[in-house]
Amino acid sequence: MPDDDIDKARRRFLQTTGAGATLVLAGCSAFDSDSEETPTETPDPTPTETQEETNPSESETEDPPESPSGQVEQLDAYPRVKIASVSELSTGDVVEFKYPLQEQSNFLTRLGEQAWDGVGPDGDIVAFNALCTHAGCNVAGSVEPEDSRAGPCPCHYTSFDLSKGGLVNMGQATSDLPQIELEVDGGDIYATYVEGLVWGYHNNLRTGTPIEAAQSD
Ligand code: FES
Repeated sequence: MPDDDIDKARRRFLQTTGAGATLVLAGCSAFDSDSEETPTETPDPTPTETQEETNPSESETEDPPESPSGQVEQLDAYPRVKIASVSELSTGDVVEFKYPLQEQSNFLTRLGEQAWDGVGPDGDIVAFNALCTHAGCNVAGSVEPEDSRAGPCPCHYTSFDLSKGGLVNMGQATSDLPQIELEVDGGDIYATYVEGLVWGYHNNLRTGTPIEAAQSD
């Protein structure tokens, strides 16, 4: 090839590769620019409508189940129920009653000595759940008002002090007998609350057949 032709070919080559390099650099610059400027996606802290709709706290607000008879099987609060009249209760009497559910047995008695949370003119009328806190045997038949005692339990001989909030005197039980809170209104004695957990229940108000609240007349 003549020298002139060789020079022309060399110039064309250099022009071509120079343009290519420019394109490559432009490409790299565009790539870097894209990678630096691409915004990072951040989560939106505002709850979406879907999240609000599936809030678990809302799904827990269900109506309580109903028994076949249509009665609500759990209570939202302790009812106020008439148990006896002060004037008809003598020292040593024992009255058995259900509260706050039909399935929960209790007893009320007049001790003849002042007791913790006792009501009446002498503060000696008290009431307790009847199920022994050891294993659930009924101690209503073992109440000895003259000794302010329930027990010995017929199953394993625990006894409870009725003048001291159902304190365990001796035996296998480790929890006091749940005391029924009482109030006197117009000479009548009402159950209003249970202090302590009834044996066999995780919640004293669930589930069973509620007692009908008595009318205070
Ligand atoms: S059930 Fe009463 S002492 Fe065991």
